[in-house]
Amino acid sequence: STIYVLNGPNLNLLGKRQPPIYGHETLADVERDCRRVADELGHQIRFHQSNREYEIIDWIHEAREDGAGIVINPAAFTHTSVAILDALNTFEQPVIEVHISNVHKRESFRHHSYVSLRADGVIAGLGTEGYQLAIRRIATLIKMSGP
Ligand code: DQA
Repeated sequence: STIYVLNGPNLNLLGKRQPPIYGHETLADVERDCRRVADELGHQIRFHQSNREYEIIDWIHEAREDGAGIVINPAAFTHTSVAILDALNTFEQPVIEVHISNVHKRESFRHHSYVSLRADGVIAGLGTEGYQLAIRRIATLIKMSGP
């Protein structure tokens, strides 16, 4: 099946943006790694990034139509967006939330996530490798729910 990998604001600057926190890999590197893991597991990837909340909401609706799984790094919208939570609550397939940094080691405003109220699992602080692990988990959840 299809797995949507959705990335929120400022992740277009991954690799250049605060490398001590987010590392040197770019979002293009992350996309390549996600496609490799998905290929290995026989799934397809739709990989997107936006700085605009509504685009992320629209992709969640699209994933719903496709019956796809979702890996989402909502970035700063994690901590602010009831609208993204509401969109995910319309969605019945597996959702894994990913954060590159360990948000729990950082400012207290990063400790709360609206998206975690819906996510089936959360990965934080494993760097960009977290995306690959999230895809593996989605594949397992799809398999578990299958016939
Ligand atoms: C992030 C953590 C968020 O708190 C932050 O706003 C981001 C990236 C992460 O991947 O570690 O933009 O989601």
